[in-house]
This record gives sequence, C-alpha cells and structure tokens, in this order.
Amino acid sequence: MHPTTAPTIRVHGIHKKFRHHHALRGVDLEVASGEVMALLGPNGAGKTTLVKILTTLLKPDSGSAVVNGWDVSSEPEKVRSSIGMAGQFATVDGVLTGFENLCLVARLRGMGGRTARRVADDLLARFRLTEAAGRPAGTYSGGMRRRLDLAAALVGSPPLVILDEPTTGLDPEARLDTWEAVGELVTGGTTILLTTQYLEEADRLADRITVIDRGAVVAEGTSDHLKAGAGQRLVLCVADDAQLAPAVRALARATGTEPEVNRRAHRLEAAVTDGSAVLGRALAALDDEGVDVLEVGLSRSTLDDVFLALTGKGVTQAPTGKGAAQPAVNGARAREAR
Ligand SMILES: Nc1ncnc2c1ncn2[C@@H]1O[C@H](COP(=O)(O)OP(=O)(O)OP(=O)(O)O)[C@@H](O)[C@H]1O
Ligand SMILES: [Mg+2]
Repeated sequence: MHPTTAPTIRVHGIHKKFRHHHALRGVDLEVASGEVMALLGPNGAGKTTLVKILTTLLKPDSGSAVVNGWDVSSEPEKVRSSIGMAGQFATVDGVLTGFENLCLVARLRGMGGRTARRVADDLLARFRLTEAAGRPAGTYSGGMRRRLDLAAALVGSPPLVILDEPTTGLDPEARLDTWEAVGELVTGGTTILLTTQYLEEADRLADRITVIDRGAVVAEGTSDHLKAGAGQRLVLCVADDAQLAPAVRALARATGTEPEVNRRAHRLEAAVTDGSAVLGRALAALDDEGVDVLEVGLSRSTLDDVFLALTGKGVTQAPTGKGAAQPAVNGARAREAR
C-alpha cells in the first residue's frame, strides 16, 4: 500500500436501481494502489453491478466512481483503456484460437501487428497455453478458457485488473491455477479488485475484504480484523451419542444460543463474543449436566462466522474435489453437515 498516492479506485455513494430493484444502495469503496481488494458477497449482492459501473458498462443512478484518476461517467474511454477486466462469464471468442483472441485484444488496445503477436505469445506462455495456442478457444476446458480470459485482461499490462468471480465454476486444479496467476500479478504490483462468493478465496488472495450484502457494504477490513470482530468459536467434543443432548443443553445455557452439532464427530460448536467468560460458564454447565467431555476449547472465528454474524446467512459447500469442501456464502444454511 502506498498511503501517499491517490487511491486507484474511489467509489462514493453509488446507487443503482433496476426497475423496482435497488441493486446498489449507496456503496463507498476505496482501493489503494498495489492492493488486492476482494468484494465478498452472496448471489445478488450487487458485485457484478458495481464491477460493471467501474468498468463503464453501466451508468450509476447517483454517486461517483473514479478509476485510475478518471471519472467513470465523464471519461469512460480513459477508464476503459486504463484497466484490464475479466468478467463473470468468459468473454473469449470460441471460434478464434487462443492466439487470435489475444492478438485481437492487443490490436483493439492499439498495438501494431508485430507487438500484438509478441504480447499474445508471451501471455500464452505465462498462462501455460502455448500448446493450445492454435486451437479454437471453443475446444478449451473451462479452466483453460478462464486462463485465456485472464490473459486477455492483462494485455497491455494495465495497472488495475478487475476480476468478477474469477474461479466460480472451476475445478480445484483450475482454481489453484487462477490463484497462482493472480499471485503473480500481485508480485508485479498490479492493483486488483476481485469479486467472489468464496470465503477462502477472499481470505487467501486479498489484502482487504469488503463484504457486500443486498447492495450495501456491511463490513470492510483485513481478514484478521473481520475475524476478530466476529468473536471466537467454542468447540466441544463429547465421548458418545448419549452425551450430545445434555451437552447441547449445557452449551445453550452457557452461550445463550443453540450450538451447531456434528453428530457423526460428536462435536458441538458455537460462535461466542466473550470467549473466556463463556468458557468458564460452559465448563460449569457441562459439569452440572454430567457430560463426559473429550475436548473443549476456544478458537478464532472463521470468515464464515463473520459472514453469518453480518448477514444472518450461513455458508454452503462448493465441491472442490476428493471430498474437500470450500465454503461459499449463500442464502441457505448448511452448517450441520460439516
Ligand atoms: N439488468 C438487470 N435488470 C434487472 N435486475 C438486475 C439486472 N442486473 C442485476 N439485477 C439485479 O440486481 C441484483 C444484483 O445483481 P448482481 O449481478 O450485481 O449480483 P452479484 O452480487 O454479482 O451476484 P452473483 O454472485 O450471482 O453474480 C440482483 O438482484 C439482480 O437480479
Ligand atoms: Mg455477479
């Protein structure tokens, strides 16, 4: 972060309505030069709407947005030529080859033929697409298309890259590839705004996270800052099935909320705000109920707790292969299964 330089993105009081639906309700956002900002929110939160405004594809109803020093409403061409963008849905042309796609973007960005071809070759190599360079992009796997899309966003080395859900729908390997590519950009000093529904993605890639829900920013800060604000988790493991009911009673009494129960693991968890005091009460209550405790303790909150605390929405699991699960924010609550 360079506190002395002007922010790369400065959004103030943006409103956007679609007919009767208020998609953005006064959003403020600042992204510093060289920073990675994750815009984290569930389906329909307004992420793509904000991205479209920042990339000049949509006009805000009110409020202002300045990108790389240019106002999106009065100087949209300047904004467009100063950013790289990869959308939620891949924009590469399936009929053109990978090489042709990148050359086309380079020519549209004003490069001469020879420079365009060199830039295309370099980017194809960087995203491990050299072998597939001569094939129509329509024959690429989902992960390859995303990589090509990301490569297209980097033509001309823009100082700011905006990525709308760069890994949604990707398999675990392709997701890791994308994370690596984003990591390389970061090392190169590129400022990045990325939207995501995946808590892990925000946690892993971003310097700061802005949580957006129903068109409004509900929290902003580093992952650690957000987690600290959400308190802690009380975790308890009991010996067998018979201990679960009394343990639930004890924790409910000590914490004032129903704990989440994983029956198979004989494990109970509850989000708590005053950890040490609650732990003392919980131990006393467990003793009262005569519960056979195997393990009890406090742990730091996770980003899912943060999201739950902020929006009342839990997480669902996006499959990441081999039985692994990655939490994504969503309206449905599916914690019991975890
Ligand atoms: N062109 C449009 N016309 C009408 N409503 C729209 C339009 N675009 C978006 N919306 C509505 O605005 C809200 C915000 O949509 P947006 O696409 O910005 O959400 P999002 O956070 O990107 O969600 P997702 O994670 O599903 O991509 C949604 O309720 C959506 O239905
Ligand atoms: Mg979207």
